[in-house]
Amino acid sequence: MYLTDEEQAMLAGEWGEGVRKAMEIVVALGRIYHARDLVPISSVQVSGVSYKNLGDAGLQFLEEWAAQGARARVPTTLNPAGMDLSAWRELGFSPEFARRQERVIAAYAALGVMPTCTCTPYLVGHVPAYGQHIAWAESSAVSYANSVLGARTNREGGPSALAAAITGRTARYGLHLDGNRLATVVVEVRPAIRSEADLGALGYLVGQQVKNKVPLLEFRDWEGSDRDLKTLGAAMAASGAVALYHIAGMTPEAMAGDRVAPAPERVAVDSLKAAYQALDGSVEGVDLVSLGCPHASLAELESIAAYLDGRRTTAALWITTARATRQAAEGAGVVARIEASGARVVADTCMVVAPVDELGFRALATNSAKMAFYAPAHSGLAVRFGTTGQCLEAALSGRWPASRGG
Ligand code: F3S
Repeated sequence: MYLTDEEQAMLAGEWGEGVRKAMEIVVALGRIYHARDLVPISSVQVSGVSYKNLGDAGLQFLEEWAAQGARARVPTTLNPAGMDLSAWRELGFSPEFARRQERVIAAYAALGVMPTCTCTPYLVGHVPAYGQHIAWAESSAVSYANSVLGARTNREGGPSALAAAITGRTARYGLHLDGNRLATVVVEVRPAIRSEADLGALGYLVGQQVKNKVPLLEFRDWEGSDRDLKTLGAAMAASGAVALYHIAGMTPEAMAGDRVAPAPERVAVDSLKAAYQALDGSVEGVDLVSLGCPHASLAELESIAAYLDGRRTTAALWITTARATRQAAEGAGVVARIEASGARVVADTCMVVAPVDELGFRALATNSAKMAFYAPAHSGLAVRFGTTGQCLEAALSGRWPASRGG
């Protein structure tokens, strides 16, 4: 693999031990994937932030790397942590967990990583441009960056993204190469798509079917826009490993011209029923309702506030979002309207990476197919999956409603 003089110097340790270690990781990945060289990157998003997943070994690894003088050389943001970094005490997180989580954040800060703690960096100012090479790790954000923004990233792991940040390079393979960005499977979507839950259910089915291929989706009956796509991409990346998809007439590379490889496979989705059967459980009482997976936008928070105005919740309703989005919503009076109902606008975390089982919750309702897919295994919770309207009704009554809301 070709390395520039600067890259060879990094690998030889001339830039310090922390950079040498990072370059070793980048080069090792390049060799595994037969990259011909490295590509300079303009942005990084790092996953592996919750102490729940990192444990003491992960924390020590980060602290050691920081102590070796490693620093991010390009703008780098962080995925959600295991708790709200300011309201953890009132939300019931233990001081022991909080202390360790704070050390993780401090280690990342020492490494030069901005502690944004969100899976939607693209909603809070970290927006790569079309065609830019980047190294992002959070699977839903990878999907959004590649598909909706037209940037170029593989699905990095936590350490490989951090190594890319420290060296400013990633190996040129996979989705950094033109030829690998063509759709190899065309998916005809036949059922009507009427809600974000339907989009998530669709994503779940497509991900299961196409695994890590690049699909082109052709919708028969959907009037959404690219603002709705974060939930679709998150689901496809969870049940499969879809890191890039195209939508005819909507996503930028599909608009730019023919994005289909020669002789693609053709499949159809006839119904969403199998997804609802797989993701929606049967528990009736719900004690935690989680919205904001991927992290909620300001517009989503506003529409939740409008639904809750003048009403009181029975179950805990936590809407997760980026801290910057929460601050904007606070300024607009939206947080106060939501929290007047008893619900909480929770920043910096999500219910998959937070230790929710330790907080005493047993049954979770969500409008996110990704969360419904992961929550049983990650948190041991019983799960209901449905529309935002159903979830809000469940939060108000403490019971999963029989019919679908709006
Ligand atoms: Fe984000 Fe957590 Fe969902 S990281 S995409 S809110 S599972």
